Amino acid sequence: MVFGKKKKKAVRGLEGVVAAETFLSFVDGQNGKLYFRGYDIDELAGKVCYEEVVYLLWFGQLPDKEQLEDFRSELIAEMRLPNQVDELIRLSPPNANPMVVLRTALSALGMYDPDGGKNSEGANLRKAKRVLAQMATIVASLYRIRTNQPIVSADKSMDFASNFLYMFNGQAPKKLERSVFDTVLTLHADHGLAASTFAARATVSTLAGVHSAISAALASLKGPLHGGANTRVMEMLKKIGGKDQVKDYIDGMLASGERIMGFGHRMYKTEDPRSRPLRKFSEKLCKRAGCDHLFEISQSIEERVLKLKGIYPNVDFYSATVQEALGIPKEYFTCIFSIARTAGWIAHIMEQFRDNRLIRPTSKYIGGFDKKFVPLEKRK
Ligand code: COA
Repeated sequence: MVFGKKKKKAVRGLEGVVAAETFLSFVDGQNGKLYFRGYDIDELAGKVCYEEVVYLLWFGQLPDKEQLEDFRSELIAEMRLPNQVDELIRLSPPNANPMVVLRTALSALGMYDPDGGKNSEGANLRKAKRVLAQMATIVASLYRIRTNQPIVSADKSMDFASNFLYMFNGQAPKKLERSVFDTVLTLHADHGLAASTFAARATVSTLAGVHSAISAALASLKGPLHGGANTRVMEMLKKIGGKDQVKDYIDGMLASGERIMGFGHRMYKTEDPRSRPLRKFSEKLCKRAGCDHLFEISQSIEERVLKLKGIYPNVDFYSATVQEALGIPKEYFTCIFSIARTAGWIAHIMEQFRDNRLIRPTSKYIGGFDKKFVPLEKRK
C-alpha cells in the first residue's frame, strides 16, 4: 500500500477543525457573541480596564482591588527595555514596517530576558509580564525615535493604557482618549484559535519558549488577512476620499474579485460583536478630531458591502478610524493590535504548556510516486 493514497481530504484552511480545548475564550459565530472566561464581551468592554482582562485571562478570575493594583505595578515596573534593544530599534531602517521592527525587537528581548531558556510555570509568568509590558514600550519607542522625539519612560502612577499613550505621545491622555484606547485593548485581547494564536500554541508545543511563540504570533498577525487588515482599511478610506465615491470603488473591487479589507470573518456569520462599540467610538472620535468624512465613508462601505456580499465588518474595520482619530499613524495600527492580543497569546501559551502535546497535524500527499532517480551529471 502506498502511504497517503487512502487519507481523507485535507480541510482547507483547517476550517471547523477543533485543534485545542481552551478555557480562555469562545467565539460564538452564529450569534455574534464573544466570551472571555465565560464573561460576555459586551459586559466587559468599557467596564473593566485592560489589566483586569489580562488578569482574567491569565489567572481565571477578575482581580479584586488589591490584586489589580499589585498586578498593574508589576506590569508598569517591567516596561523598561534593555539598552541593547533600544539601540536595535534605533538602528532599524526608517522605512521598515513597524510590525517587522516589533517582531525583531521582541525576538531580541528573548536574548536578554533573565528567565530565557526556562519554561517553568514561574519563569513563564515572569516572562509573560515582561513581554506584555515591553511590547508597549517597543511600539512607543519606535514611534518616538522615528519622529525625532525623546523616548518617554513609563509613569508608575498611570495605568497600562495611559502609559502606552503617554510613552507614545509624550503627554498623559485625556479621559475620553484613555477610556477608548483601554476598551480597544480589551476588545482585541483574545479571540479563540485565531491564526496567530494557533502559531503561538504550535510553537510552544515543541517546548520552545515564550519569546519564540510570541515572535511566531507576531509574524502571523502581520498579514493583511489577519491583523494587518486595519492598516489596509485606512489606506482604502483615504484612497476613496469621499462617500460619493464609495459605490464605484466597492462595486469595482468586488467585480474584479478583490477583498474588501476589514470585512468578513471565518467565525462570524453575523455581526462581529467587537465592531459595535468600535463603530460608536469611531463616530464620536471622528467628529471630535475633524475627520467625520472617514466615518461617513466607512458607513457607506458597510452598507454597500452588506448589500452586495452579505458580509459584515470585522474588528479591523472601525478600529482603523478609531485609531486614526486618536492620532495614531496607520503604520502602527497592527502594532496596537499586537500589544492587546499579547494578553491572549500568553494565556494560550500557558494553557498549552500546562497540558502539552506536540502539535503536529498531517498532510495528504498528492504528488507522484515511483520516479526514476537520475544522477546529477546525467540530468538535463
Ligand atoms: N471581501 C470580499 N469578499 C469576501 C471577503 C471580503 N473581505 N471576505 C470573504 N469574502 C467572500 C469570499 O470571496 C468568498 O466568496 P465566494 O464564496 O463567493 O467565493 C466568501 O466570502 C468566503 O470567503 P473565504 O475566503 O472562504 O473566507 P475565509 O473564512 O477563508 O476568510 C477572511 C476569512 C477574514 C480571511 C476574509 O473574510 C478576508 O479576506 N477578509 C478581509 C481581510 C480582513 O479583514 N481580515 C481581518 C480578519 S479579522
